[in-house]
Amino acid sequence: MERNNVLIAPEEIERQRGFTDKIRQMFAGRNAHPVACVDTFGCQQNVADGQRLQGMLSEMGFTFTDRPEAADLVLLNTCAVREHAEQRVFGNLGILTHTKRDNPEQVICLCGCMAQEERVANRVKDSYRHVDLVFGPHALWKFPELLWQVYESHKRVFSVADEHGSIAEGLPVVREKGVKAWVSIMYGCNNFCTYCIVPYVRGRERSRLPEAVLAEVRELVEAGYKDITLLGQNVNSYGNDLGIGYDFADLLAEIDKIPGDYWIRFMSSHPKDATKKLFDTMAASRHVARQLHLPFQSGNDRVLQAMNRRYTRAQYLDLINYAKSVMPGLVLTSDVIIGFPGETETEAMETISLVDEVGFDALFTFIYSPRPGTKAAELPDPVPRSEKQKWFDHLLEVQNANSARLHAAYVGKTQRVLVDGTGDDENFPLTARTEGNRLVRLRGDESLIGTFCNVKITDSNTWALYGEVEI
Ligand code: SAM
Ligand code: SF4
Ligand code: F3S
Repeated sequence: MERNNVLIAPEEIERQRGFTDKIRQMFAGRNAHPVACVDTFGCQQNVADGQRLQGMLSEMGFTFTDRPEAADLVLLNTCAVREHAEQRVFGNLGILTHTKRDNPEQVICLCGCMAQEERVANRVKDSYRHVDLVFGPHALWKFPELLWQVYESHKRVFSVADEHGSIAEGLPVVREKGVKAWVSIMYGCNNFCTYCIVPYVRGRERSRLPEAVLAEVRELVEAGYKDITLLGQNVNSYGNDLGIGYDFADLLAEIDKIPGDYWIRFMSSHPKDATKKLFDTMAASRHVARQLHLPFQSGNDRVLQAMNRRYTRAQYLDLINYAKSVMPGLVLTSDVIIGFPGETETEAMETISLVDEVGFDALFTFIYSPRPGTKAAELPDPVPRSEKQKWFDHLLEVQNANSARLHAAYVGKTQRVLVDGTGDDENFPLTARTEGNRLVRLRGDESLIGTFCNVKITDSNTWALYGEVEI
């Protein structure tokens, strides 16, 4: 892909601002105060996209509500990674027939990864006729123009053409209040793991320029954000498409020089592209949290090959051992799939044995879900769901015991934590995160929210640590 075809020209972004102005003036002319309900599903990348969409809506004059029935515009920002995620969205679309019946002027938009799937766009076209606007991640930056077309023409608008994808800089954003922020450093995925829909809906890998990422992180640190996560489907291949001999470790090292009191995290990392240089850079840094999310998916070499993951169990364990050796106390998390087509019980148990061998602090566990259009969806899948569920339950048991054991080892120790809000435990009302991103429930005053403090860990369970602030 030609690099100069990737960046959306600044004049194009400016042209979009023109449509934003038209929409704002349209509402001002009616003396209306429009309200939007933005509902985001899926991964942090989608959350970051949702914040950009909210930024555009805010510039159009919208304020926000969580209640679709109270909204002039509803935007479902969807995920296609598993069937369940799609079913939830179709369920929500069904409910919106009622809100639209009560308020025929309501505009309903469907965007995100599901919207990029031809199968979904066609189903919405035919069977969900109350949806006014459908656009995929490739068209996100054109949202003002597409929405203006809906308001002007009163016709349904679909913008779901398949593309390699682009990068749009300078889009407005509404960030979460507090201390956490997300920064997309790249978009798309080239890996085509055989079970995964993401490369089909998010296009090819494209990296933002280092100076654009650095400027955004600097701005966030200056604005007081203290827990910043760099996002990409595989951040370890950051820079490959830039052709300037600059990789993810180089980016981390430069970000680390930004002055301030903050943590940098990143996700996700693909083991096939994780390097010793990356772990050495993390170990030498001041701000990069000693936490690694390194999805392994399966502990069996045959299944890994069938998944097109391009590493072996032994290579994965080597990486983990190296990372642990240069960063003692490193907190590890991962993603795992149970029940890939053709996986046997013995192979699934190898995944569980790897979980035990590594000792992850937490796991994101999934039962395989066939995604139409992917290679794995064509494979024979003879094992019944009930059998996969048994393996999955066993995996959870093993992991929960590991999490509880690793958490118990914190008791009696002092941890530096970032207090980020309040929770639902009356006795420990504050919530905080350790450098390793473990949840800590705390006693203390709300004035601590947004600050780093030292905490004595007094108790723990599978899900959280409990502690008292040290004065
Ligand atoms: N790019 C990241 C990576 O490679 O680790 C994350 C991709 S995906 C958004 C998040 C996780 O969903 C994957 O790591 C995988 O475990 C899981 N996943 C993806 N496709 C799946 C499928 N068809 N069925 C079940 N789980 C799936
Ligand atoms: Fe999906 Fe694999 Fe790409 Fe991750 S690396 S998004 S699992 S294809
Ligand atoms: Fe993320 Fe789901 Fe898309 S996990 S990239 S929102 S398919």
